[in-house]
Amino acid sequence: MVWSLSMEVRVALLLLLLTSTNVRAPPPPPSEPGEEVPAGSRGGRHRRRAFPGPYFHPSSPVNVTTQLGAHAYLPCRIKNLGNKSVSWIRNRDSHILTVDRYTFISDERFSAWHEAQTQTWTLQVRYVQERDAGKYECQVSTEPKMSHFVDLSVITPTVSIAGKSDIYVKSGSTVNIKCVINDALEEPTYIFWYHEERRVVEANSGYRLTVHREPPDTSIGTLTIPSVSMADYGNYTCAPASLQMASVMLHVLIGEHPQAMHDTNSAAASTTGSATSVGSSSPATHIHGRRAVLGVWLVTVLLLATT
Ligand SMILES: *[C@@H]1O[C@H](CO)[C@@H](O)[C@H](O)[C@H]1NC(C)=O
Ligand SMILES: *[C@@H]1O[C@H](CO)[C@@H](O)[C@H](O)[C@H]1NC(C)=O
Ligand SMILES: *[C@@H]1O[C@H](CO)[C@@H](O)[C@H](O)[C@H]1NC(C)=O
Repeated sequence: MVWSLSMEVRVALLLLLLTSTNVRAPPPPPSEPGEEVPAGSRGGRHRRRAFPGPYFHPSSPVNVTTQLGAHAYLPCRIKNLGNKSVSWIRNRDSHILTVDRYTFISDERFSAWHEAQTQTWTLQVRYVQERDAGKYECQVSTEPKMSHFVDLSVITPTVSIAGKSDIYVKSGSTVNIKCVINDALEEPTYIFWYHEERRVVEANSGYRLTVHREPPDTSIGTLTIPSVSMADYGNYTCAPASLQMASVMLHVLIGEHPQAMHDTNSAAASTTGSATSVGSSSPATHIHGRRAVLGVWLVTVLLLATT
């Protein structure tokens, strides 16, 4: 049998024997189910190698963590995909989300795209919600089908205002209200502040708004009121992008007395009450009015008595 081989083939075989002792072909990657190459095809009789089937790259992640409200990217690295299709399936309800570039769910937050250089099909989930957490299957249309699972974790940052839920400050002092966002994988794209129902802006208001990051996963938004006055009294709410809100009540002290909405005893309340927009229909106004009537009446009585 061997003797019937042509001279060229024998030379080729000899060369192969000589070189194979020193030069070894790299072993196939561990997870290559489609890589079986018929034994004879390596020997030189057939130079054309069988096309190896698709396989998942071992570096393709199995866990992805995303913050609530952010975008999640679930990569699926597939080698030798050839002309096979890639589907993304949500494990929870077996819903087919995408097939290749096409989205098969009415939820527009889901989409998939292919990156040729890295041979990656990525599922994107925009504005991640808590219920998006769970397993996702990247499925290749081989026969039988091949699957790679990615587990998506959704982290929900906590939003709170540092300190107590009521802040007492003296009129004229500087106040910093700090909105602390813990477990924040990324800084919020914005933090809105509200004083009562009105959005706080820096322009012409005297207020200062800053945001800074404290590694590894804390963001702090600060509202600074340089010189507190009665007009600053009230409820302050911090509302970071796509996260919960947190509120605090600011009380302004004149002397030692807290300036509260319905404080009818405080002399300061009567003198400066008109400067605050709050409590215009409070009992203080009525007492004010009655005192004025009483005053006019007394003056009248006195005038009458002296005549
Ligand atoms: C993925 O997460 C699971 C639990 O959430 C953990 O047991 C596993 O070790 C993680 N795998 C990797 C590769 O990080
Ligand atoms: C994929 O390519 C193979 C040959 O490379 C061909 O036989 C097969 O029909 C193709 N499949 C599709 C879905 O185009
Ligand atoms: C402050 O305002 C927020 C948002 O409007 C509201 O949820 C919260 O209950 C208010 N707090 C107080 C003490 O009024």
